[in-house]
Amino acid sequence: MYERKERPPERDRFAPYLASDRAEGLYNASLRRDDGEGRQVGAGGGPNLEDNQDEDPFNWTLTTGTTVGRALISAAQRLGETSGETARLDSQVLLAHVLKQNRSWLFAHHEHELSDGDCRRYADLITRRRRREPVAYLLGRKAFYGLEFGVDQRVLIPRPETELLVDLVLAQISDRAGRPVVVADVGTGSGAIAITVAMHAPEAKVYGIDISRDALDVAEENRRRLTPDGGPEFLEGDLLSPLPEPADVIVANLPYIADEEYSGLQSDVRDYEPRLALKAGAEGLDLIERLLAQLPDRVQTRGAVLLEISPRQGEVVQRMAQELRPKPSYVGLRRDYSGQVRMVTLEY
Ligand SMILES: C[S@@+](CC[C@H](N)C(=O)[O-])C[C@H]1O[C@@H](n2cnc3c(N)ncnc32)[C@H](O)[C@@H]1O
Repeated sequence: MYERKERPPERDRFAPYLASDRAEGLYNASLRRDDGEGRQVGAGGGPNLEDNQDEDPFNWTLTTGTTVGRALISAAQRLGETSGETARLDSQVLLAHVLKQNRSWLFAHHEHELSDGDCRRYADLITRRRRREPVAYLLGRKAFYGLEFGVDQRVLIPRPETELLVDLVLAQISDRAGRPVVVADVGTGSGAIAITVAMHAPEAKVYGIDISRDALDVAEENRRRLTPDGGPEFLEGDLLSPLPEPADVIVANLPYIADEEYSGLQSDVRDYEPRLALKAGAEGLDLIERLLAQLPDRVQTRGAVLLEISPRQGEVVQRMAQELRPKPSYVGLRRDYSGQVRMVTLEY
């Protein structure tokens, strides 16, 4: 039906998360032992397999009374083996989290000595980070559009490029000023899009839909904290099927990773974020294609549909949208703030 092009691996939105040979090599090369204060022991600090056959190679410990400065240096060295260029930042963010301080406090308190509990909590987070668990899951939160969303392994971590989708939804709502507006966020995950839109446009009726009950539980927790007196209504089901009324604005950041690209994702993503939030069939288009097919009786006259896509999917999704009946009056591609084709807009 649609021309299927030979695809390069997904090296756009998930580029920072794609497994690199370097990262994988480092990931496998962390079998060093620690003396309890982050110093490496064993011949030349190299692998010490004989002594550590039964030990978790990622395990890291800190001795009570280690100073902030010493803990940061030691943790960053250890993280450098697995999380590369973000090692220093990660070590600071995680220690600030443990101490319930901000990062600048750390720099002014290098001589502060860590308690036993602090050492254990920090060592646990650094060990998990060495196994490539995303920092947002370790912190249990992620900033999105100036708001703080609770996240865990039940939901995709909201990405900064998705903030553009919120900008486009808010622009559509303000174009309809004075009229009641119904918005549907399909594949709502943590509720980042739906809740942000509801906060910035309290006059709109916002629905957030997801097929994952687990994701909706996280979204509901975020709604209660961020919009306690209102906010979106969350609905469980497949794409637009649970929507109780046609929407003026349909927004969706649906899974779009092709099956064969999935195994090439960096382990931070592949091993921790929900597969249901990422994989979308042989071409990565299964969900988007089905959503487009559901549009005719779910979108209002003069409604708009805003979809986040992979840059390589721009042309094919544009063509799918142009072939819809009734035909949208406008179908256009939008680039994100880094210049990549990222959104498809349909207007009726
Ligand atoms: C890429 S995540 C996007 C999450 C969130 N909107 C964001 O931008 O951070 C895609 C979401 O779509 C949901 N999903 C997958 N298949 C679905 C379906 N058939 N119907 C509704 N939601 C679905 C997943 O559970 C996941 O929460």
